[in-house]
Amino acid sequence: KKRVAIFISGGGSNMVRLLEDMNKDDHPAEPVLVLANSADAGGLAKAAQMGVKTVAVDHRPFKGDRAAFEAALQAELDTVQPDILCLAGFMRVLTEGFVATWEGRMLNIHPSLLPKYKGLHTHARAIDAGDEEHGCTVHLVTPALDDGPILGQATVPIEDGDTPETLAARVLKQEHELYPAVLRRFAAGNTTPITL
Ligand code: GAR
Repeated sequence: KKRVAIFISGGGSNMVRLLEDMNKDDHPAEPVLVLANSADAGGLAKAAQMGVKTVAVDHRPFKGDRAAFEAALQAELDTVQPDILCLAGFMRVLTEGFVATWEGRMLNIHPSLLPKYKGLHTHARAIDAGDEEHGCTVHLVTPALDDGPILGQATVPIEDGDTPETLAARVLKQEHELYPAVLRRFAAGNTTPITL
């Protein structure tokens, strides 16, 4: 089986979905580490409860020294030797050096239909633009933010009266379907994009 590490920053609902899918016997991958950039990340307890090794590497003591922070991340990865690294709501920008080390093996989920709305506040921006549709994307990570080859996308309608919160909830439901579907295919060597 392919060995998968997951980076999170928050509640980790996407991470839980990835772990649940990898728990199935027929899955081509297994989780070896969940890492968060804060000990407060709620997802750490959920991962531990599901029997997965967890670690917190707090970015704050590094005071903006991204290279040193990433060396600490890499040191944790070296202890578990993952084949694939999944970013799942990991809210730290990674430098070109770290990305280069993992290029072709690092996936990210982003809450927009890329290439639209890279960066933050994607739901508010889609509503403000008057878009009729929104969604989420899983892509391979390249040095440019929220760029890189698309592995899958899921679309949801934007409805009258949507707020960023109601729209985010609709998108998140689709993230929970899309990310496991993409990881399962990717771990089996399939990089042909899917749409849900
Ligand atoms: C998800 O909506 C994910 O797409 C988004 O953060 C949320 C994490 O939720 N990621 C980004 O905005 C990346 N820039 P989760 O912790 O419940 O999976």
